Amino acid sequence: MPSPPVVHVAAIRKTYGRTVAVDEVSFNVQPGEIFGLIGPNGAGKTTTMECVEGLRVPDRGAISVLGLDPARNRHALQERIGVQLQEAQLQKRIKVIEAVGLWASLYQKPLDGDRLIEQLGLSDKRNAWFMTLSGGQKQRLFIALALINDPEVVFLDELTTGLDPQARRAIWDLVRGIRQRGKTVLLTTHLMEEAERLCDRVAIIDHGRIIDIGAPAELVLRHCPERTVFVATDDVTAAERFRALPQVQSVVSDPSTALGAGGQLIIRGQGDLVTEVIHCLAEHRIRVTDFRTEVPTLEDVFLKLTGHLIRD
Ligand SMILES: Nc1ncnc2c1ncn2[C@@H]1O[C@H](COP(=O)(O)OP(=O)(O)OP(=O)(O)O)[C@@H](O)[C@H]1O
Ligand SMILES: [Mg+2]
Repeated sequence: MPSPPVVHVAAIRKTYGRTVAVDEVSFNVQPGEIFGLIGPNGAGKTTTMECVEGLRVPDRGAISVLGLDPARNRHALQERIGVQLQEAQLQKRIKVIEAVGLWASLYQKPLDGDRLIEQLGLSDKRNAWFMTLSGGQKQRLFIALALINDPEVVFLDELTTGLDPQARRAIWDLVRGIRQRGKTVLLTTHLMEEAERLCDRVAIIDHGRIIDIGAPAELVLRHCPERTVFVATDDVTAAERFRALPQVQSVVSDPSTALGAGGQLIIRGQGDLVTEVIHCLAEHRIRVTDFRTEVPTLEDVFLKLTGHLIRD
């Protein structure tokens, strides 16, 4: 028997006045998974997340977290879940160690605060005021606060928004570490690269509705199977060889490069195109001076499914 999902969301709807923020949203998060809700600003990610956390109550539909209803069993769940809210703030002059101590006092069996501070790379900032921390350090502190009760499931809303790429990568490693310790993570992001690199599965949300759910690579393959390979070669037989491959749909020479010496071929096709082109190059000993591939991303999937870019 497969284990029951950690989070089960069935056809929830949430409106604010005449705004339908979330409509017919359903998904399951399995134990040990990093699951992402991805979509543009205003798509309904935070609303969905806060319904799952028990902070808001959906108008319709059902939710269970660790087998409990978050709206009715908030206290029982509080000990077992960790929450990091979008745009959270703390008092300017609270120290890192004080914030962690305060949060620890809210729970029956907190983790060792000093150890957590160390694990999140904040030892140097132990006695620093919140207002003096960098964006990345603040985010790490919020992760520490979300983990202080050693939760079974962690909710992270827009964890890396506003961070530079280096700080973002460090946070991704931290989140992977949470999964490694056997915990389940539900997060939201509007960064497709983040979803692609971090999430085991994602639900794409637009205008309050889920458009599709799957592993990032699976979604790309399902909706954007096309692949492109650019090969620069002066081998005049190359184009014919590529055309003979079953995965290849077209081979054209790039008009922006010189024909003959080192001209570039653009090979378009589907499925396992890249491997087959490499095999073909090896088999026929075709010499290349450049080789590049273009594989669609979740960003392309989003565009294809919604007709607009995620940042529109
Ligand atoms: N408390 C509220 N009162 C009224 N409308 C709200 C409220 N909270 C959210 N909304 C609206 O509901 C919709 C979904 O908002 P939500 O915050 O869930 O989106 P989001 O996907 O988290 O966006 P973002 O990427 O900007 O965080 C938006 O149209 C928003 O304006
Ligand atoms: Mg949000």
